[in-house]
Amino acid sequence: MEKREVLLIGPLRPVFKGLESAFNVVKLSEQNDRARFFAEKAPQVRGIAIAATSERIDGGFLSHFPKLEIVSSFGVGYDHVDARWAGEHGIIVTNTPDVLTEEVADTALGLLLCAVREFPQADRYLRAGKWRKANYPLSATLRDRIVGLVGMGRIGQAIARRLAAMQVPVVYHSRRPGAGVPYRHYPKLTDMARDVDVLIVITPGGQETKNLINAAVLEALGPRGVLINMARGSVVDEEALIRALQSRTILSAGLDVYAREPEVPKELIEMEHVVLFPHLGSASVATREKMDQLVVDNLLAWAAGKPPLTPVPETPWPPIKRGDALRT
Ligand code: 8YV
Repeated sequence: MEKREVLLIGPLRPVFKGLESAFNVVKLSEQNDRARFFAEKAPQVRGIAIAATSERIDGGFLSHFPKLEIVSSFGVGYDHVDARWAGEHGIIVTNTPDVLTEEVADTALGLLLCAVREFPQADRYLRAGKWRKANYPLSATLRDRIVGLVGMGRIGQAIARRLAAMQVPVVYHSRRPGAGVPYRHYPKLTDMARDVDVLIVITPGGQETKNLINAAVLEALGPRGVLINMARGSVVDEEALIRALQSRTILSAGLDVYAREPEVPKELIEMEHVVLFPHLGSASVATREKMDQLVVDNLLAWAAGKPPLTPVPETPWPPIKRGDALRT
């Protein structure tokens, strides 16, 4: 059978090499002349594999590929892909859910403990030889806190399970209460922020959640409050957060994601009462291999004429017919 053209956006990681036996892989990183690429090679491309979520895959970009049928994207978050546009144009988008759920939940708990108990700061203290002179100062505790989850999807539920095992009460805010979710639901985020001491943000990125955590929410969280962001930098108003940390409107923050990654504002880097992770929620060798494999497996299923394994809700299977597409 004739091999289909698949465009790879981002690095060719080891698992992606499996793509090369099944497809003619065209690498975007090697297309130095984009205009020429769009004119000459893009018309043959039928699938896209995205290995880097920093690329913006919007309707303008996708419209260069008239034969495109599937975009297989790495990561559970797909705010870098305009999935609505894709769905309206008969293109399936897939992501990599489930295989990273427990890993990201583990990281969230690690970041939470680091932010509350100051473990990274204590490590730095020891290395600086300060322990010889005095014990590290006593920290805040998780023992007297209620955690409010912002978002209660699969990862939110995995975080909540861990907190329950640690005997930390959990409540949550989401647009609608989750079916069968046993924790108290707050329809209004500021109401929840007022009642809790920790907010863990684990909601999808994109326009709908942009700057959801704003100055009013941080004010409601208050001076004992700790903000943990495991979602996307766009969900938090970064300038408002910096002001809230500088003025001690909240106690501290633990961040895994930022508005302009990999750039991190120097104000955050300079603050001792903030714990900063370089977007490593899912970043273990084993979990990243599973995510890479799911990117490949979605494309292999499509090539075999089977339904994609993990299509996103905006692009249900089977897709609308190309002839009916609203291509503009
Ligand atoms: C990705 C993530 O690995 O899955 C997601 O949505 O945030 C991470 O686990 C990350 O997007 C890679 O840049």
